Amino acid sequence: MKFTVNKTISAQQKLSRKLVASKKTIAIVPTMGSLHDGHRSLIKRALKLADVVVTTIFVNPTQFGPGEDFKRYPRSAKSDLELIQKAGSKVVFIPKVQDMYTDDYRTYVSVHKLTDDLEGASRPNHLRGVTTVVTKLFNIVRPDFAVFGMKDYQQAMVLKRMVADLNWPIKMVICPTVREKDGLALSTRNGYLSPMHREQATALYQALRIARKLCMEGEERISVILRDMRRELHDLAPAGKVDYIAFTDMETLRPVTRIEKDTVVSLAVRLGSIRLIDNMKIG
Ligand code: PAJ
Repeated sequence: MKFTVNKTISAQQKLSRKLVASKKTIAIVPTMGSLHDGHRSLIKRALKLADVVVTTIFVNPTQFGPGEDFKRYPRSAKSDLELIQKAGSKVVFIPKVQDMYTDDYRTYVSVHKLTDDLEGASRPNHLRGVTTVVTKLFNIVRPDFAVFGMKDYQQAMVLKRMVADLNWPIKMVICPTVREKDGLALSTRNGYLSPMHREQATALYQALRIARKLCMEGEERISVILRDMRRELHDLAPAGKVDYIAFTDMETLRPVTRIEKDTVVSLAVRLGSIRLIDNMKIG
């Protein structure tokens, strides 16, 4: 199959229809572009799952809040296409905002409860924008597999819930977080960090490692783990402002009172105007 870039919804629908008719399996890798090794790892995983990998690039306006960085979110179509082609994904879908959201657009998909806390508490409507756009992408691309990153832990769990609730015959695959040498999770927004904040940004990972270490030593009390995490964040990232540190059950996102099997610790920290998130399974 030759490398194909679909810029219209109808072109992608036509191709997907053809692939389904010829019994080819499809894996989708939804992204907002400005691709890095984290995205590349998702494409590589998708290639192992299906006959055809469709990578989508769409900076989705409905998941950005007022005052967030929709306008200044980096866009680098040319280098993205190179990365996708080199990684081995044969199809790219790059819809236009005005086609995805026409002037009379009125329909939203939202997952209840799971979106109230964590990112949902700090970014109202963000996850509703994600579930809405992913629904649209699924309907257009018709995937058998969908690949997401654990980096956006709540997003991944909310999307898994949505797929189960709406009875989509799509297998959701969640991949591990790809990190820099110092542990910082790769993210498009890392590029906005000043050199000083970039240096301090390793604190998120170091704090998560402390949580995992304590847990492995048998510590179950959240208060103790939280105290040590906060101390580490304070020492390594004096400029950082902690938005939240949460201990939740991996699938249900319910807060846990002691560390249990499948507990995930997640956190969000502001460094200057940049808000970083990360997480680690510790139970
Ligand atoms: P974006 O931030 O571009 O991320 C696209 C996918 O890459 C997501 O599944 C995300 O979890 C994953 N990802 C990001 N950083 C990663 C890393 N360091 N290691 C592994 N995977 C990583 O997430 C979105 O876009 C959007 O919300 C989207 C799902 C495309 C809907 O608009």
